[in-house]
Amino acid sequence: MSKKLTIAIDGFSACGKSTLARMLAEKLDYIYVDSGAMYRAVTLYYIQHQLNTEQQLIDHLKLIHIGMQRIQGKNITTLNGINVEKQIRSHAVNELVSQLSTISAVRQKLVLEQRQMSKKGGIVMDGRDIGTVVFPDADLKIFLTASIQIRTQRRFEELMAKGIKTTQDRVRKNLIHRDMIDSNRDDSPLVKAVDAIELDNSYLTKEEQLELVLRWIKNLQNMPELDQ
Ligand code: C5P
Repeated sequence: MSKKLTIAIDGFSACGKSTLARMLAEKLDYIYVDSGAMYRAVTLYYIQHQLNTEQQLIDHLKLIHIGMQRIQGKNITTLNGINVEKQIRSHAVNELVSQLSTISAVRQKLVLEQRQMSKKGGIVMDGRDIGTVVFPDADLKIFLTASIQIRTQRRFEELMAKGIKTTQDRVRKNLIHRDMIDSNRDDSPLVKAVDAIELDNSYLTKEEQLELVLRWIKNLQNMPELDQ
């Protein structure tokens, strides 16, 4: 039996990290964790409770319980027991999430929970700091990129399909804004891990991308040091 790997996927907003991570997890029968959904759930809590300062959020952190469940093939994020999968993709959350993700206490809480999810290996997690901070010893680290035009188009279509009305211009500005904050924050900025493989998927279909990464995984699993 091949070893159950820990796979880290990082990259800018709307590069298709979640799509790749979900497809890999399904194919390999691994756990899939969308770490961005956890930062989004914290942001939703902040909005719902009408908090106004970082300190207020820090004081509330103990009251925030985030769950990740898989129901009928779909990933569901819960916030204190309530399904918030749609609400965490709203404009209000999009516009605030990167700011709140700069708070070290928020990151410490979520990183701890993310590490607990990987106890047995066999996990694909996507985010901004997975290969650099959450799993620095991951077996495979991928840094995804794609042009801003393609990322905008993909995210726009995704939001429209979910019934969230927006414009391409609004989506593009939000992606650029979040990338800027994510790349420049002091705690765990978005950077490519030195041992990550960079993959520009601008002109790859989802299936081509999956096939390519599965080939990398197969090669990895044939390496003697990964045998069980
Ligand atoms: O992945 P997604 O775009 O849903 O993430 C939303 C936001 O959460 C990111 O723009 C970033 O600010 C934050 N995030 C983070 N670290 C992660 C995952 C997401 O700071 N590991």
